[in-house]
Amino acid sequence: MNPNKALWEKGDFTRIAATMRESGEALVQRLGITKGLRVLDLGCGDGTTALPAAKLGADVLGIDIARNLVEAGNKRAAEHGLTNCTFQEGDASNLEQVPDKAFDLVISIFGAMFAQAVRDREGDGARDPAGRSDRNGQLDSE
Ligand SMILES: C[S@@+](CC[C@H](N)C(=O)[O-])C[C@H]1O[C@@H](n2cnc3c(N)ncnc32)[C@H](O)[C@@H]1O
Repeated sequence: MNPNKALWEKGDFTRIAATMRESGEALVQRLGITKGLRVLDLGCGDGTTALPAAKLGADVLGIDIARNLVEAGNKRAAEHGLTNCTFQEGDASNLEQVPDKAFDLVISIFGAMFAQAVRDREGDGARDPAGRSDRNGQLDSE
């Protein structure tokens, strides 16, 4: 099994995520989400940002490598009555299952940075919502 997948499935990230719901909601409030916006949340966990985005009217697909978190996300979406928020298992290193040009906004909050292919390309940098890399505090559009 992919060691990254094994690692994330080994623990219960929901216990940590439960302490960060408010910051997830605050962050999503700043993304300019409108009804019908198609949002892909990569490395979504159990939906700390996916659910608030769906509550604002976006059509959200959350992809995460950990099966237990995908299940938890779908359960949380159902509990909140959100039919516009779906979670599926997948690896941010290989998004062949995701059709081209299917999303208006791709977000990843401490998520895709764990994918090996992203780490190979970006080192330890991160990308902001506009897809820019943040390397040592400097934004780079490559
Ligand atoms: C620190 S958690 C953040 C989860 C969520 N974005 C949040 O803010 O609560 C990192 C997440 O990335 C997921 N992840 C790690 N490697 C991944 C990969 N290669 N593809 C997709 N998801 C991945 C983990 O399963 C975990 O849910």
